[in-house]
Amino acid sequence: MSDVVTEKHEGVLELRFARPAKKNAVTIAMYRVLVEALATAAKNDDIRAVVYSSEGETFCAGNDVADFLSGLGDDPPVLRFLESLATFEKPMVAAVHGPAVGIGATMLLHCDLVYASETARLVTPFVSLGLVPEAGSSLLLPQRVGHAVAAEMILLGSPLGAVRAREVGLVNEIVAPTDLRAHALGKARELASRPPHALRASRALLRGDPGALVERIRLEAAEFARCLGSEEAREAFIAFMSKRTQPTASA
Ligand code: COA
Repeated sequence: MSDVVTEKHEGVLELRFARPAKKNAVTIAMYRVLVEALATAAKNDDIRAVVYSSEGETFCAGNDVADFLSGLGDDPPVLRFLESLATFEKPMVAAVHGPAVGIGATMLLHCDLVYASETARLVTPFVSLGLVPEAGSSLLLPQRVGHAVAAEMILLGSPLGAVRAREVGLVNEIVAPTDLRAHALGKARELASRPPHALRASRALLRGDPGALVERIRLEAAEFARCLGSEEAREAFIAFMSKRTQPTASA
């Protein structure tokens, strides 16, 4: 079975992280599935909204750290996924419980509606890992929460609990863990029931020019790739893999 489960529900495509033993850390193979699923959903008029959910106790522990050690290579699937997030034209909804780390947190900035259980914790430990922010978060995060909170999250790697995430506008609503997935799917179905052209056009107006976002994603990716080859990043990954440190430990 794939580590990303794709499931259709009445106009809604659910993309569920299903690698709980590794806290839903995203591998190259998983990015490929996500990219393909979004491309298919973009073309399919029957799909009108996408929901991201997860199995286990973690929404997503970010990029697989072992994959970081082997480098990104040419045309990396992670970059294709990030660009797909930025350019996808249908609404996206997330159901977040437990840690949402790295890309698990930054992908939420591309979602239109984010529902979280009280265990949700958004963490962007890029600097501790010797890296820089990705997914356009260096642009979107300060726009959404202001420089002060963005600097805490990106430079210090300070985690944001569910309540604070709601206060700063990164989460729409805190929902009981047992209702979380159904709640997100219900909201996505609501979106899917709206007139599709008006929905898509309104969303595009709310989000503004995707070109500027894609440009930022590429700029971040170039710096990210440089950092990935650095000694400080390598040491951080090896420390994590050998359990000497937890990049989210300040959480
Ligand atoms: N990449 C690869 N493996 C990961 C991973 C990641 N990003 N996150 C967790 N895992 C693996 C661990 O290595 C461990 O594997 P093992 O059981 O084979 O030893 C397993 O998942 C469980 O992780 P563990 O850290 O023991 O769970 P926890 O409940 O104590 O902590 C997290 C959960 C998510 C807080 C913690 O795993 C974490 O901080 N992960 C790293 C996140 C990160 O830095 N991501 C990259 C951001 S750019």
